[in-house]
Amino acid sequence: MIPVWPWVAFLNNPVRFWIYYGFVIGGFVFALITLITQLIKPAPYGRFGNNDNNPNNWGPVIPQRLGHTISDALPCVVEFLLVYFLYGRNQYHYTNLVFMILWQLHYIHRGLIHPWIMRYSSKTTPLGDPRFIIGILLFIIGFIINRYADLKLRNLRRENQGYVIPSGGLFNYISCPNYFGEMIEWMGWAVGTFSLGGLAWFCFCCATFIPRARHNHRWYKERFADYPSQRKALIPFIY
Ligand SMILES: NC(=O)c1ccc[n+]([C@@H]2O[C@H](COP(=O)([O-])OP(=O)(O)OC[C@H]3O[C@@H](n4cnc5c(N)ncnc54)[C@H](OP(=O)(O)O)[C@@H]3O)[C@@H](O)[C@H]2O)c1
Repeated sequence: MIPVWPWVAFLNNPVRFWIYYGFVIGGFVFALITLITQLIKPAPYGRFGNNDNNPNNWGPVIPQRLGHTISDALPCVVEFLLVYFLYGRNQYHYTNLVFMILWQLHYIHRGLIHPWIMRYSSKTTPLGDPRFIIGILLFIIGFIINRYADLKLRNLRRENQGYVIPSGGLFNYISCPNYFGEMIEWMGWAVGTFSLGGLAWFCFCCATFIPRARHNHRWYKERFADYPSQRKALIPFIY
């Protein structure tokens, strides 16, 4: 097999490119955030969870066995396999299969067996604030949609100096996925910070994106007789 260096992966395929580098960048960023936050405060389970000796209340609790299964098996078994088979490169090459199986051996044990056979002193573990988790997820999803759409628009000009009908990804459903993605980003920000300032900023962005998407959509329909009729302006299937 000809070696392909990781930094040139998927250059001709924007979806796979962003899935790959999205996870890679996210991985480095999360590594740094985890290092800093865990140096400041230990991860909130076992002896450092919510208990009488721990002054830090980490929020609502769930069963500890379930907590470890969610944190380890969902990303490392389910998500890993989905990305591996849907977006991987050379999924069936023996080298990749061997390392995929080694990973799965570790995480099927760690996520699905280990949490259910251990003898924990505490039956529960704190879940953390769902607003924080949902907010970050929304922000990351919105960011990926926004960057993908902007890049796609940029690439349209490579072949053609005028305007063309964009297609692919969310462009098949809405005229302005770049605005839609950014709206999701700021929605995530507002949920995560749970602040009036965040909500005000989200409303301000919507006040730009909704009219602009409406104008863009109308413009596309007037300009191109063959503009896909089922395509919406800003929100898939809705508006
Ligand atoms: N936070 C906020 O309040 C806010 C407000 C506005 C925008 N933004 C963000 O800024 C970014 C850019 O927004 P924008 O309003 O400038 O986007 P846009 O109007 O869609 O234009 C983006 C670029 O793509 C080109 N383009 C658009 N449609 C095309 C088509 N059908 N065929 C070929 N080229 C096309 C445009 O060319 P032309 O310049 O020739 O039209 C422009 O270079 C987005 O990510 C948006 O979310 C944020």
